[in-house]
Amino acid sequence: MKNKKSNQQIESFSAVKWDAGNLILLDQRRLPNDVVYLRYDSIFDVAAAIKEMVVRGAPAIGITAAYAVVLAAISAYKDSPNSWRQNIEKGLQELAAARPTAVNLNWAIKKMRNEFHSIDGDPQEILLKLAIKIHNDDITANHEMGRLGAELINPNSEVITHCNAGALATGGYGTALGVIRAAYKKGLLNKVYASETRPWFQGARLTSWELEQDGIPVSLLIDSAVSDLMRSENISWLIVGSDRITANGDVANKIGTYSHALSANYHNIKVMVVAPASTIDMTIKSGKKIPIENRPSNEIMTFETSKTVANQIEILNPAFDITPSSLVDYIVTEKGIIHKPNAEKMHAIFG
Ligand code: MRU
Repeated sequence: MKNKKSNQQIESFSAVKWDAGNLILLDQRRLPNDVVYLRYDSIFDVAAAIKEMVVRGAPAIGITAAYAVVLAAISAYKDSPNSWRQNIEKGLQELAAARPTAVNLNWAIKKMRNEFHSIDGDPQEILLKLAIKIHNDDITANHEMGRLGAELINPNSEVITHCNAGALATGGYGTALGVIRAAYKKGLLNKVYASETRPWFQGARLTSWELEQDGIPVSLLIDSAVSDLMRSENISWLIVGSDRITANGDVANKIGTYSHALSANYHNIKVMVVAPASTIDMTIKSGKKIPIENRPSNEIMTFETSKTVANQIEILNPAFDITPSSLVDYIVTEKGIIHKPNAEKMHAIFG
């Protein structure tokens, strides 16, 4: 594997960076074999990069969107200083529509928009300052969630995680992987299992890579082997991130999370969802109303044999599913832990 990094570097790894007026994204489609950074100066190109999975993971998408607003404002102000606000509207709309499920995308755009009224003249300095704050706040939140989540874990635990909710999916350190990192540092974890996460293999390519680079023992298995693993091994926790959590505590996350949570409940394995406040959407009452992204069919019809029927049948490729709050034991946020989440407990913290 190329570009092996030291533990400290991976922990604080950033998938998103600002450099000399440009946005730099680590191309996550090429990991772990190639570490390639792409440079952006257009909000439209950033919207396409989000859609095409150059950058992914709810908090990382939100941070990317914040920097994309800065890019749009810089170029619109250069072209027409008096009408930059109107002129970035089309770009903002395209950015907002890039991926529908992770609420962090629209959360970040809204936060940036709210700052427009305070700007008199060149918007760059004020908007960049806010985007950097959104980025840094996410890293701080991850460390706090790591600390809080690790307090729930007993010594000698074995845990399962799904998809990638690590440094790559956030500003740095990670949500679910932040808890795993913190618990491992405290000597509480014997082993982590990562499910491969079809069809983009975030578990196989990204989570395994992050944990291996950090020296945390990780075993990889296919998604459909998880129930049997829960039956046969001594697993204590399923620990995952989230793309959106609704007012009643329902959780949208990578497709497969729901079936993992069902199996975990059946086998008395606790379910921990780790997500920052920017992932909480109190405007939606329950998970039924969360828009679920359906991605192109060619992402799953990869075998030659399946290609032969690809044009003749309906192909479903939902990227996320909803885990009802009744299957979740803990939601860990930087604002506190919610045990057995429901509408009342969510309202007490996020109302
Ligand atoms: O399609 P992706 O890779 O963007 O999906 C990512 C996930 O589902 C993550 O678990 C979620 O965004 C939380 S990341 C901290």
